[in-house]
Order: sequence, then C-alpha cells, then structure tokens
Amino acid sequence: MMSVTCYVQEYTPKNGASFPGIEKSKAGGMVEVWDMTTNPAQLKTFKESEVTAKANSTWKHPPTAMGLEDQELADIIAYVKTMSTGKAKEVKIEELH
Ligand code: HEM
Repeated sequence: MMSVTCYVQEYTPKNGASFPGIEKSKAGGMVEVWDMTTNPAQLKTFKESEVTAKANSTWKHPPTAMGLEDQELADIIAYVKTMSTGKAKEVKIEELH
C-alpha cells in the first residue's frame, strides 16, 4: 500500500538533518514544509535557497508498517466507504487485490 509517494519528499536543509516532509506553501522566496517525523507533523519554514527536496525513500504510509491483516484493511475500507457514501456495505478480502 503506497510505497511510492506523490506528496511526501525527502527534504534536506542546508544546516540540518534530512526529514520526510510535505510542502505546504512556497511564496516570496520562503517554503513551508510539514515535517512528518513527528506526530502530529511539525511545520518548518525555510528560505527556498536553503533547502533541497528529492524523492522520498524513507517515509512509509503508516498503515503499510503497522502490519494490518487483510480483514482489518477490508474493514477500514468498508468504514471509509460507509462514511463517504452513507450506505453500509461489507468489503471482502478478495476485493482488496
Ligand atoms: C488506516 C488508516 C489510513 C488510511 C485508510 C489511509 C488512506 C490513504 C489514501 C487512500 C491515500 C491516498 C490519497 C490519494 O491518492 O490522493 C493516503 C495518502 C496519504 N496518507 Fe493516509 N491513510 C491512513 C493513515 C494515515 C496515517 C496514520 C498517516 C499519518 C501521517 C497518513 C498520511 C498520509 C499521507 C502523508 C499521504 C500522502 C502520501 C503521498 O503520496 O505523498 N495516512 N492515505
């Protein structure tokens, strides 16, 4: 489940350690990035010239790492679908793949 990310990138500040982050905004030569190292994520602000970003290789979508059983994942999907459609419907393991 989602080992390649669309939004999360590996940020390296000029004067600091790399971290997985999501860009919040970029304006006036400044960039705001959510640092995903902590929970909740922490907003960090840099000068655009003082941080670089490259493809993420460390951050993993938490459900990938938490070792969910297929049935648990099916139940989560059923819950999200029920909440978004208003109709309760079972999701079976076969539908995951
Ligand atoms: C069982 C719980 C979760 C489910 C079902 C879930 C579901 C999803 C889905 C469907 C997407 C893709 C959205 C899209 O394609 O636009 C996504 C992306 C994402 N989720 Fe979750 N999520 C869960 C837990 C979490 C948690 C705990 C975090 C903690 C920070 C998280 C952070 C993210 C991030 C950062 C992305 C974007 C990744 C990227 O492509 O760069 N998710 N999630």
